[in-house]
Amino acid sequence: MNESTRYEILKQREMMKGYTSADAKEEPTDQQQKLPFPKPLKEAKPGDMIRLPLDFEDVVQDKGILTLLKERESCREYADEALSLKELSFLLWATQGVRRFAGRYRQVTFRNVPSAGSRHPFETYLFVRNIEGLLPGIYHYLPEPHSLELWAEKADYGEELKAALGGQEFAAKAPVTFVWSVLPYRTEWRYGRKAHKYMLIDAGHVCENLYLACEAIGCGTCAIGAYDQELLDELMEFVSGPSSEEDNEFALYAAPVGKRMTKGGE
Ligand SMILES: Cc1cc2nc3c(=O)[nH]c(=O)nc-3n(C[C@H](O)[C@H](O)[C@H](O)COP(=O)(O)O)c2cc1C
Repeated sequence: MNESTRYEILKQREMMKGYTSADAKEEPTDQQQKLPFPKPLKEAKPGDMIRLPLDFEDVVQDKGILTLLKERESCREYADEALSLKELSFLLWATQGVRRFAGRYRQVTFRNVPSAGSRHPFETYLFVRNIEGLLPGIYHYLPEPHSLELWAEKADYGEELKAALGGQEFAAKAPVTFVWSVLPYRTEWRYGRKAHKYMLIDAGHVCENLYLACEAIGCGTCAIGAYDQELLDELMEFVSGPSSEEDNEFALYAAPVGKRMTKGGE
């Protein structure tokens, strides 16, 4: 390993410890400096929203936690079958659904996943290919009021998504592919240098809930970390390239979802 790689690796370890250089002094965070509070949710664009059904109990198979944990595995092959809107709604609720708001002036959301300081820095986007009742395209999830909005009318995203996901074709041609972005300032406002460690930990919770929720409805998923940052940010219409003051949202994690193929011809 050369000197500069070694140096970068040590810096990344410092990030995992919650500081960026060994001699860094603790500074007050923006919250401590009483800077304006970032909004907990991204606002909807003007236009129509697609309300998602909340009566999804009937699509959830009552397997029990032991079975769900035992059956969870990464799934990279999906049946050529649509997911229903209820099934998709369940997956969105399980991963980023809002249970309640707290705080009168500085509203935070409480959701079905934990997040450091309940900052919930993520937004969910869906590349939809085969969901009953939805036209193919790119959608944005609005956790409150549990709805979707059309993000881009792009039905033929296949090749671009495949390139953006590092050439992983299975992930680009799934019936639906989740892409989570991060709005880092939501967490930085409160935690400053420690924020990045927390946001990465938080992302794991979201994807693990997707794995377990998929198992409960006969679907499978696979975490995707090996994507091309620049291409995925460009596809999402975020500011792409090296970090700058403008990049207040960028892609962080992805996961294709589809119905599981029946095992061994069952
Ligand atoms: C952070 C993270 C990134 C991952 N990225 C990819 C990926 O880009 N492509 C892929 O096929 N699997 C990816 N995986 C899935 C792992 O390869 C998988 O979890 C591992 O092989 C263990 O298999 P299991 O999930 O079935 O237990 C990723 C998993 C995690 C947690």
